Amino acid sequence: MCMNDIERVLISKEELKQICRDLGKQISKDYEGKKLYLVSVLKGAIVFMGDLMREITCDCQIDFMAVSSYSGAKTTGVVQFRKDLDINPEGCDILIVEDILDSGITLAYLKEVLKGRGAASIKICTLLDKTANRKADVQADYVGKVIPDEFVIGYGLDYDEKYRNLPFVGVLAPHVYKK
Ligand code: IMP
Ligand code: MG
Repeated sequence: MCMNDIERVLISKEELKQICRDLGKQISKDYEGKKLYLVSVLKGAIVFMGDLMREITCDCQIDFMAVSSYSGAKTTGVVQFRKDLDINPEGCDILIVEDILDSGITLAYLKEVLKGRGAASIKICTLLDKTANRKADVQADYVGKVIPDEFVIGYGLDYDEKYRNLPFVGVLAPHVYKK
């Protein structure tokens, strides 16, 4: 991996840890005594899910869904379902764990799908929120950090399947996608 591909570090490893601690504390308080079902969206949210769940102290189950709406650095606007949940979420308090909320098209779609299956409640926890780029009417209930409208990579987030293994969140240098 070429470090020239990264314009700057946006969120350090230490700050990410603190964000997960704070969110975990709040979620544990809010979901005490409930049937918390953490649903993560593959693949970008796996690192966040792994760190966040270890900061949650109330009982919970986890599961994964896979959808895609991105090709390179551009959204296609069409959400495709690639993997569904393993169990029926009826009666569960679902917390969707996402890496980044951008246009909101993906999450608006997922919320609708899960609502139709009788979940007791559906909330969203996103690590990053690009509020400036919102197109669908969807808001996160828990936000790690609001970030500017720049393409970011690392800590699970990719550009063409690369950079997910970086331990921090960085801004991708424009020369990488403007070839
Ligand atoms: P949305 O439907 O536009 O909100 O897109 C959501 C998904 O697009 C996220 O879960 C990411 O997988 C991907 N995405 C959006 N912005 C970025 C980014 O800056 N870097 C990497 N992936 C992104
Ligand atoms: Mg994602």
